[in-house]
Amino acid sequence: MAGVVLLCATSCKSKIDKTIDEMLQKMTLEEKARIIVGTGNEGRWVSETSFGDMKNIVPGAAGTTCPIERLDIPFVILSDGPAGVNIDSTRENESGTFYCTHFPIGTVMSSTWNTELVENVGRAIGDEAMHYGVDVVLGPGMNIHRHPLNGRNFEYYSEDPLLTGKTAAAMIRGIQANGVAACPKHFAANNQETNRMGNDVQVSQRALREIYLKGFEIAVREGHPKTLMTSYNKINGISVSERHDLVTEFLRDECGFDGTVMTDWYGGDHPEEQMKAGNDLIMPGQQWQMDSIVNAVNAGRLDIKYVDECVRRILKLVYTSPRNQPGHTYDNNPDLKAHAEITRQSATEGIVLLKNDAQALPIASSVKNIALFGCASYDFIPGGTGSGDVRRAYTVSMLEGLQNAGYEIDPLLSARYDEFVKKSVAENLTKVTARFADMVRIRPDEMPLTESEIAAQVQRADYAIITLGRTCGEYYDRTSSDFVLTDVERAMIENVCRAFHAAGKKVAVVLNIGGVIETASWKNLPDAILCAWQPGQEGGNSVADLLSGKQNPSGKLPMTFPVVLSDIGANANFPVDQTSENVSVASRRVDRGEKNVDFTRYDEGIYVGYRWFDSRQVEVSYPFGYGLSYTTFDYSNMKVKQSGKEIKVTVDITNSGTVDGKEVVQLYITAPGASMDKPAKELKAFAKTSSLKPGKKETVTLVVKTDDLRSFDETSKKWQLEPGTYKVMVASNSRDIRATETIEIK
Ligand code: BGC
Repeated sequence: MAGVVLLCATSCKSKIDKTIDEMLQKMTLEEKARIIVGTGNEGRWVSETSFGDMKNIVPGAAGTTCPIERLDIPFVILSDGPAGVNIDSTRENESGTFYCTHFPIGTVMSSTWNTELVENVGRAIGDEAMHYGVDVVLGPGMNIHRHPLNGRNFEYYSEDPLLTGKTAAAMIRGIQANGVAACPKHFAANNQETNRMGNDVQVSQRALREIYLKGFEIAVREGHPKTLMTSYNKINGISVSERHDLVTEFLRDECGFDGTVMTDWYGGDHPEEQMKAGNDLIMPGQQWQMDSIVNAVNAGRLDIKYVDECVRRILKLVYTSPRNQPGHTYDNNPDLKAHAEITRQSATEGIVLLKNDAQALPIASSVKNIALFGCASYDFIPGGTGSGDVRRAYTVSMLEGLQNAGYEIDPLLSARYDEFVKKSVAENLTKVTARFADMVRIRPDEMPLTESEIAAQVQRADYAIITLGRTCGEYYDRTSSDFVLTDVERAMIENVCRAFHAAGKKVAVVLNIGGVIETASWKNLPDAILCAWQPGQEGGNSVADLLSGKQNPSGKLPMTFPVVLSDIGANANFPVDQTSENVSVASRRVDRGEKNVDFTRYDEGIYVGYRWFDSRQVEVSYPFGYGLSYTTFDYSNMKVKQSGKEIKVTVDITNSGTVDGKEVVQLYITAPGASMDKPAKELKAFAKTSSLKPGKKETVTLVVKTDDLRSFDETSKKWQLEPGTYKVMVASNSRDIRATETIEIK
């Protein structure tokens, strides 16, 4: 592969350390401040006031560290993001294109529950970064889905920290297998976009430790990221990038993180506090931040040892990065074809079959003509917006995917949708006044269907597919009206189902969404529901592979689908429809003490997602971990062994149906809860079987460390293990427990 160079292993580590020592001796204070304050690529992401002098190297990349030419200190290039490398696809004065593969969004990755697959996608992302001369990939995104309306949930993995941490670790290992650095973000408790730069998260130590830091802890311990990004928000009054207890004590001393910490773009207000906290790199910097570091040292307020430590860690990143290895080259020519296959296949494992009455899916082989409804069928959404977007060469729509699979779609209906989509997008474009309008993917309204139009399709087609689309992205939280169906969408489902069912024909609904939507009120109508999420640029092909039965769904939900928003533990403390001034890049909003905007109280504590719904026994639309298959699985022969500090569970999974399939097996544990407040159950391990032929059996092994059963005690500020009887459950989802055993912990 072009430009791949083996990075120095231990032998030249000491050489690098010596070079760094030497540079630290030679650098002036101003040069040290200069390298701490990174540059931004002018244009897309940064304001005019930041340093923009590196713009020509990889256009569209998010920034670079600053080179110090006097000492021949080179730089590195940082680029988003979580679903693929996010750089400009065309360049001034260059005729070629620089497309990257748009892989499935983070939520699709976690829905696979397949860490090997995630690692493979990470490897492909890292490979594209190498080919385009990028050294640091600003991903994975891994904040907890605290509330379904967070605008950036699509980049993130789950409401559960274990699934989040394991998925992130796999993504990091994959990206870094190429020599480039991954950058898990946004550390930590960055769970809303509303006033994201100023919001103060008011959270208990226990919830912080068990829910919001846990995923990062796992990702650091098991993924060994070379860099990490702190978040914009404050935690209990102080910006995360300025918190020594989180950045140094927790991350480095406790979790063993030994890489470079950077701010989110323009995050934090006090450079000297960031230095003291151990937040090495300030991205993408501004002159006042450099001045502030220099002045603080000169005035004796900031000990130079903090500055030196930060510079040391930045230099380590610089000297070990791909572009600074001897003979490094890159060819701007990744294997986009091979990666298209990877995205197509990986998405199929993260798409979740929510409903399948009377084997409505896969579509019977006799079906040739499909009536394809819903604007998103034609204007398919591959991913979210903002820095998590990717400049891809194309998106395969549902229309194209179904046609590629050999189905026929009425060209007249297709033409009518095309025309409507164009008109509606143009109209909606004129309504957008947002500051980041260019980063919002303008969606059409849904096209109202007449009865005769539907009747014509019933005549023509053997099967109906309706796609519902939702877009979301950086800077904005979703609204409650985005959560529910519009009147036109509801009428479309009702009328299409009524007409097709009257003719004995089936209807499937495909959800092309970046975050959870309301399903409880309409899910009884169609025969099947497939949650495709935003499955990347090959999306239409991936969905068609499942609808046609070429692939068997094996994704499961990484979060709960609630009945209504008000059922959610965090709902009263989330900015639902609070559209106050919420976007701020170069300046800060003045703190007006507005609830859920200036501060957000995490009153639900550790009761996030299924921990809340299952402990309170709240009815849900689809539970955490839920997902159907075209086959069925039997669980048998569960065995639990306790040895030393480990609990080992084995269970036999047999494919009891008629087609090949994979099953996601989940291990939940219920603590005694006698001396400590404990949730009804917590996910402690999971595994996915290989593809099992009908009748075939696989023994799945799930291992839990006794330490992972501990809870964080607020009073002693220590992790504590509650003695007593624990229930160990293997399950198909959080509400479908297949076998239970008990163990005693002394
Ligand atoms: C986002 C980060 C991103 C950075 C650089 C920020 O606005 O929050 O996730 O990596 O920009 O593009």
